Amino acid sequence: MPSPLALTRRPRRLRASQNLRDLVQETHLTAADLIAPLFVKDNLSEPEAIVSMPGVFRFNPDQLVTECLALSKLGIRAVALFPCLPATSKDAAGTEALDPANLLCRTLRQLKKSVPEMTLITDVALDPYTSHGQDGVLDEKREVDNDRTVEILSRMAVLHAKTGSDVVAPSDMMDGRIAAIRQALDASGFTQTVILAYSAKFASAYYGPFREAVGSKAAAGPISLDKRGYQLNPGNSREALLEARLDEEEGADILMVKPAGPYLDILQRLRQETSLPLAAYQVSGEYAQIQAAAQLGWLDLEKTRDESLLAIKRAGANMILTYFAKDVAEALQKNLSGH
Ligand code: PBG
Repeated sequence: MPSPLALTRRPRRLRASQNLRDLVQETHLTAADLIAPLFVKDNLSEPEAIVSMPGVFRFNPDQLVTECLALSKLGIRAVALFPCLPATSKDAAGTEALDPANLLCRTLRQLKKSVPEMTLITDVALDPYTSHGQDGVLDEKREVDNDRTVEILSRMAVLHAKTGSDVVAPSDMMDGRIAAIRQALDASGFTQTVILAYSAKFASAYYGPFREAVGSKAAAGPISLDKRGYQLNPGNSREALLEARLDEEEGADILMVKPAGPYLDILQRLRQETSLPLAAYQVSGEYAQIQAAAQLGWLDLEKTRDESLLAIKRAGANMILTYFAKDVAEALQKNLSGH
């Protein structure tokens, strides 16, 4: 027999059995880490499938209550709500966003009443409401007008808080919106409403399926929706950290990086620079590419899904918005009862 190598350190020792692998695992995924993004739409008799996001549906408010009750049973603590409006409810100023009887507000009231244990996160941005699909109102040069948009977003955040939102999530990337929203919330007595800031939101091609889901792509028509005037350049990391620092100074409670998977370097650097909790959004395109490859038989759906989420958590996310939330929570529950 050849004599063994004189190795003091043999890292493989701790990989030799499932027990040892479990004992030394550094990062774990739990249902409490996951936030389910949900789409709500009026006038649906059945939940409506979204073609480019297999397994994701638009729900009417009643169906959404049922879905949230199921998520709650699975241990999911929070949902992020996105309204899908008909073109007839949209205009250039996104007026519908400030109507207390709009779809989102009606849904919020219903969810607060029927699923009180669920933390409700609402998106503060104008894109579901504008006829041009941009996140804000436009100036005469058809650029998004920062300061007028911030004014509207502040009122929108107060309306959401008043109606039952626990966490407002500005996803618009306007300058100064966190300070303005914090001030508006406090002035209306909503000092406990949390601000989850989409701080490092990149101008990403991975949002494609979402834009189909909420109809902002259709609203923009044949011209492709260009948000590079406010969302971050994918080539920039220092600028992302600057945005996050500004949001923190302005009063954000939680900072978010979006998309997640292709931007783990940003997440990791931000983890080192701030003491605030971090969220990451595994966006529609990240979901779609895993689903598509799985449908082709090229990737294992469950394994790839779990690995993609574990990697996001390992890089520094405390919480992950993901369209896989329900499936993962179900799988985790099954595993627990199987032990
Ligand atoms: C816009 C918004 C977007 C997403 C969430 N909020 C897309 C965009 O900026 O056009 C994308 C989420 C996803 O792709 O899953 N306010």
